[in-house]
Amino acid sequence: MHQHGFTYAATLAASQRISWRVEDIIGGDRRLDFEKPFMPEALARTAAIDLLDAEERLLLNQIRGNGYLYIFGLVEEFILPFVLDHARPRLAGDDARARAFLQFAGEEAKHIDLFKRFRREFEAGFATNCDVIGPPEAIAQAVLAHHPLSVALLILHIEWMTQKHYVESVKDDATLDRQFSDLLRHHWMEEAQHAKLDTLMVEELAKDMSGTDFAKAVDGYLEIGGMIDGGLAQQVAFDLDALVRASGRVLTAAERDALTKQQHQAQRWTFIGSGMGHPNFLASVGALHPESRQRLAEIVPTFC
Ligand SMILES: [Fe+2]
Ligand SMILES: [Fe+2]
Repeated sequence: MHQHGFTYAATLAASQRISWRVEDIIGGDRRLDFEKPFMPEALARTAAIDLLDAEERLLLNQIRGNGYLYIFGLVEEFILPFVLDHARPRLAGDDARARAFLQFAGEEAKHIDLFKRFRREFEAGFATNCDVIGPPEAIAQAVLAHHPLSVALLILHIEWMTQKHYVESVKDDATLDRQFSDLLRHHWMEEAQHAKLDTLMVEELAKDMSGTDFAKAVDGYLEIGGMIDGGLAQQVAFDLDALVRASGRVLTAAERDALTKQQHQAQRWTFIGSGMGHPNFLASVGALHPESRQRLAEIVPTFC
């Protein structure tokens, strides 16, 4: 077992202490400041783009911020039914477990709502419309068609990824728009409990599994990862179209090609590499099946 000490009771207690309302972090006089970047540079990688001027870099950063929250909302649309399906046959026997999972589901439903409200605010304040991949229901259906352990591994990856993004890149970056980073802070606070519950969920789903079956579940997780990567490539194309519309900048074919490669890699690190390579994610996998941990660790550099 991965030595973590996480329990349902402690997670539930933490979650009840933290619980915030959507109304407290968005709406009213809490407005996005379009003079400021939304995304930290470690994820956006927009400040380093020589072929764009400062204003174009800022626009692309904000487009990436909108896409970031949209993609979180999108993944939470499959996390919510998955957690409910996991909890449903396990309501009896452990009250803390039942309550912790219901709290988890309730928080994800709240986050979906929060991200949608954010998006309406973004649309109202940004120069042009920004297309996004989806629809979320179709992606959710494709993800949930995989083995439950494949999906649980992906969710564990996502939750640790949100922790890493906030702590390492957002928390101490004073240049970011305050409302955007405040939103990410609130999200991070609740996601910390989800990461622990997902750890327990993965252990429960894997407990009587053979190494061969575990490796198959990892195949499924990687298959979903490949699907997400395809979605990210599509999102990059949408983002560059939005940048052209918002800035009036004409990109040559060579410039567009270079930007596509650079931003696809930035998206890969944001949503794939930073989760798959997270030490706690790899520790969970390694405790259950060391060969799979090794396999994933070798794949991670492709997504960095
Ligand atoms: Fe969330
Ligand atoms: Fe979550």
